[in-house]
Amino acid sequence: MKPRILKIDPRHIDLELIRQAAEIARGGGLVAFPTETVYGLGANAFDPEAVTSIFEAKKRPLDNPLIVHIADPKDLHRLAENVPPEADKLVERFWPGPLTVVLKKTDLVPDIVTTGLDTIGIRMPSNTIAREFIAASGVPIAAPSANMFGRPSPTTAKHVIEDLKGRIDLVLDGGSTEIGIESTVVEFMDGRVIVLRPGGVDVEQLHGIAGSVEISSGAERTGRSPGEYPQHYSPNARIMLVEDGHFQAEEALSAASGAGSRGQKVGIMAKQEHSALYDGFNVKVLGPENDGRVCASRFFHILREFDAEKVDVIVAEGIPERGLGLAIMNRLRKAAG
Ligand code: TXA
Ligand code: MG
Repeated sequence: MKPRILKIDPRHIDLELIRQAAEIARGGGLVAFPTETVYGLGANAFDPEAVTSIFEAKKRPLDNPLIVHIADPKDLHRLAENVPPEADKLVERFWPGPLTVVLKKTDLVPDIVTTGLDTIGIRMPSNTIAREFIAASGVPIAAPSANMFGRPSPTTAKHVIEDLKGRIDLVLDGGSTEIGIESTVVEFMDGRVIVLRPGGVDVEQLHGIAGSVEISSGAERTGRSPGEYPQHYSPNARIMLVEDGHFQAEEALSAASGAGSRGQKVGIMAKQEHSALYDGFNVKVLGPENDGRVCASRFFHILREFDAEKVDVIVAEGIPERGLGLAIMNRLRKAAG
């Protein structure tokens, strides 16, 4: 069964449609909605049964906590306590937006949301459809990305339906998401800011606001960083990552030719600067290597396009790990497994 799909124009939001979505969420249902990063799969964060059904719909392991989304920054202090000054500073600068802060949770938050941890990830999205939906629901909305566990994150309503058809109640279709990769997740320790997952707010921006910023080595899953699986975000095709460097295009060509000669259907995800070098191959352009915004907005989309074309191998060019490039390379390495 297909979920109901409500198309919403982000510039002229039909509040009647938002009200219908909010009613489903309040009644314990699952609503997929756009944020500025990726689509989320939302449920009433105060309803443990509804939150449990998020894990079931996505086949998400029960030890990977959810982010709780709010529409009013004041709700932060209902959901979290002992908030350090660095957290207030970051939230003031980057909310609404692609930043998730991990803080000590209050008793108001059911254990299932945080999978038993005493901390909670909280984010106030900037997407206006998301904010209207959360506000109309009148409760915080727990939401992971609206993909099947392990798959590339969804940047359109179509991606959500590909993965979760028959498993959710409603999709708010607000078009393509603007940023295209998930939020930056940070925690706080003794005055330091620790990045658990790089994302839409880049590390250089964090440095501008907070004194000490560290990137958790967390390619590994730990209790502190339960979402950092070594393999994640994977398309059906196998990914061959060709690292950024002097002979990148030569290496990519040889990998693509090799796979092709073994009878495999090949796609190349290339930097704009190299795309003309792959004449005769199926090439999709990620973007200029120094334009992280463009690359991020296309990344998950391209992985899913290659899947739709039933490509066996994706030869993917790495880009410099600056700005959003760091978050993109974090995803690309996991997708390559
Ligand atoms: O941009 C985003 O963050 C999107 C949109 C929908 O908001 N959401 C998203 O959710 O990416 P999800 O569930 O796919 O990823 C949430 C990440 C996971 O890596 C999870 O482990 C981490 O946040 N996280 C959540 N709560 C945490 C906590 N209490 N401690 C440490 N990490 C936490
Ligand atoms: Mg996810």
